[in-house]
Amino acid sequence: MNNLDQVLHVQGLSTFVDDVPLPEDTLHAAVFVAPAAHGRITHLNVSKARAFAGIRDIFTWQHIPGKNQIGHILHDEPLLAENIFEYVGQPIAVIIGETPAIARRALKLIELEYQALPSIFDARQAYAQGKIIGQERVFSCGDLAAGWSQCQYIVSNSVESGAQEHLYLETQSAVAIPLEGNRIKIFSSTQSPAAVQKTAADVLGVAFNQIEVDVLRIGGGFGGKEDQANVWAAMAALAAAKLKKAVKLILPRSKDLAFTGKRHPYSSDFKIGLTANLKILAYQVTYYQNAGAFADLSTAILERTMFHCTNSYFIPNVHAKGIACRTNLPPNTAFRGFGGPQAMFVLECAIYEAARKLNISPLEIQKQNLIAEGETFPYGMAAKNNRAQTCWDLAWHDYQVDEKIRKVNQFNHSSPRQKKGLALMPVCFGISFTNTLLNQASALVHVYNDGSVSISSGAVEMGQGVNEKLRKVAASIFSISEARIRIESTNTTRIANMSPTAASTGADLNGNATRIACEEILKRLKAAMPKFLGTEPNDKYEIKNEILYHNTGKTRFTWEELVLHAYRQRISLSAHAFYATPGIYFDKTSEKGNPFAYHVNGTAVIEVTLDCLRGIFEIDTVAVVHDAGKRLAPLIDLGQVEGGIVQGLGWMTLEEIQHAADGKLLTNTLSTYKVPDIFSIPKNLQVKFLNSEENQDGILGAKAVGEPPFMYGIGVYFALRNAMQAFKPDLRMPYAAPLTHEKILKGLYSG
Ligand code: MTE
Ligand code: HPA
Ligand code: MOS
Repeated sequence: MNNLDQVLHVQGLSTFVDDVPLPEDTLHAAVFVAPAAHGRITHLNVSKARAFAGIRDIFTWQHIPGKNQIGHILHDEPLLAENIFEYVGQPIAVIIGETPAIARRALKLIELEYQALPSIFDARQAYAQGKIIGQERVFSCGDLAAGWSQCQYIVSNSVESGAQEHLYLETQSAVAIPLEGNRIKIFSSTQSPAAVQKTAADVLGVAFNQIEVDVLRIGGGFGGKEDQANVWAAMAALAAAKLKKAVKLILPRSKDLAFTGKRHPYSSDFKIGLTANLKILAYQVTYYQNAGAFADLSTAILERTMFHCTNSYFIPNVHAKGIACRTNLPPNTAFRGFGGPQAMFVLECAIYEAARKLNISPLEIQKQNLIAEGETFPYGMAAKNNRAQTCWDLAWHDYQVDEKIRKVNQFNHSSPRQKKGLALMPVCFGISFTNTLLNQASALVHVYNDGSVSISSGAVEMGQGVNEKLRKVAASIFSISEARIRIESTNTTRIANMSPTAASTGADLNGNATRIACEEILKRLKAAMPKFLGTEPNDKYEIKNEILYHNTGKTRFTWEELVLHAYRQRISLSAHAFYATPGIYFDKTSEKGNPFAYHVNGTAVIEVTLDCLRGIFEIDTVAVVHDAGKRLAPLIDLGQVEGGIVQGLGWMTLEEIQHAADGKLLTNTLSTYKVPDIFSIPKNLQVKFLNSEENQDGILGAKAVGEPPFMYGIGVYFALRNAMQAFKPDLRMPYAAPLTHEKILKGLYSG
């Protein structure tokens, strides 16, 4: 794959926060958290814990020199609970010991008394009590009333989708090291070094330039470290600043599972109307988002839910309402798709429900309504270079869907207990941060005078291969070997004000900044070539595969020689560049605009075989046509698509987060929380990349690939329902994901 990291990973040589070399007297932190979902602290006594041998100190909110505030969108979240706590696992105190074990043991000596307060875990209940975060959002287009009046069929129902644990391999981790002049250097496993910097600075009450954040790579993020790495880094920084010692804080897996937010569960109501020839004319939907106890990124996630309420389809009359509901769960957060999957699932349920009522295949409705060039999304942006129909048609043709349907029917006819189901899942995902201002990035490129290159940018490598993509960008602009190019750690002293690596924009934004910086240096090098070669300034100059060309003729000189010459001529071999996605805007008053640089499309064909006696199933096929533009790193993109699919089908079928009635997480180990393993992977997993032309709005013709494939997994839910339907034609079952084995059996045999 030519991904530098793979060699290190396989040998166990790549380093993570836990591997950062520590000063000898480094201390270790453990976090004391709320034992109940909602309460008023009446008594907190840390003296026994403080007296425990090997304990150096204990910090509560009273020790915070700056602001006890870590909420970035809404300022509603304390770093350490003051008088009230609002979810099981909310941090109350940080305890610092000589070893992690000592710190953890002393946790038990902290005495906490509280008065229990009423708690809510359900989004609709929270809404009924007026517990909402931010504003209710409404996206609408057309005239809904007129729409209904022209519909032949109207159906409505409710849909539930569950939470999802990120399960990044590297748990939340930070090391904070005090430097001279009261500066703090933080190694954090974060997708957003700038957010860690800001949070730590705010908590300590110091300027941003007092805090340096460094990220070499992270062991997966999936959105779970876009905002929620800040907490642990700020705690480590607080202790380091107070004690003037390095402090390390790594959450053990069970704590990470219990303390951190998940994908937002949604509870939604839909009403959908179709004409006699199956055109969807009207769609009304209300999303109740279970945000957890604090805002975190919930309002931004809800916004993306609104954007993707019509997925790949054109619906002329839409009214979509979204509400972020405050509950007493850990604050839910970004997770691959960022609210988009939840929206798409509801619409697919609506289509499925309509098809069931009409006694036709959902495919009939899906293919009638794919968005066409020039048609608009409810938020006012027109489909441009949109390949919804192209991908659908290619998938249908290349994966022989007609034939597959025939075979499935034949199989189901002759097999009493095993049933097959087939579904197609089209996906249309907008690329850009929905918060326009975040669509900016910078890069710092150095060419050393031996010809080697160093690149710093705001991109965080989390396994998605962004570093390899940046190397490809630089290699292609300079036309030199990738072996010469090194990607540096992501560091706030080299790159200021960086956006998180998120929204699938890592390569687009940072790649373009890198491209511009490289082009600037290349321009200077080319300008130096006439003098170096002894030729005319107005001639044509080029570098191709490290060889210098003059007037299209090959010279005997190389990149290395030119670079050294430029250095000797006192020409700058470094450049800093900035990129901001052009042409995007969004007006939150009218809820209209052009928020995305472009859309990514694709279609998945899914086939499952369900054992209707046992409720277990195999996924026979997930075959995808996916548009990634002119790919920069084809194998990395393939890995992203495959990984996304498996993560998506896990959300839809296996991963079920459960809490006890008092709000404690029950699924707090990997024996009770099931994620897809090697046996869950579709037997036939095929990905075809659309041979589309260059995408002018991405990086070097490519399209972003990180999140969109996640949503192909949604199709597995419907393939399974179809198989169930084949077994039990009068299947009546709520629309609720995950569709676990248990729920399958209940659906098949009860009611
Ligand atoms: N792939 C791996 N291996 N690990 C990850 O943590 N995160 C996903 C996706 N693919 C992730 C991943 C998410 S949520 C996003 S937004 C993108 O990668 C972020 O990286 P990109 O912007 O460079 O695509
Ligand atoms: N995606 C991911 N993260 C974000 C976004 C988005 O659209 N907006 C703000 N943070
Ligand atoms: Mo991805 S959810 O935007 O980190």
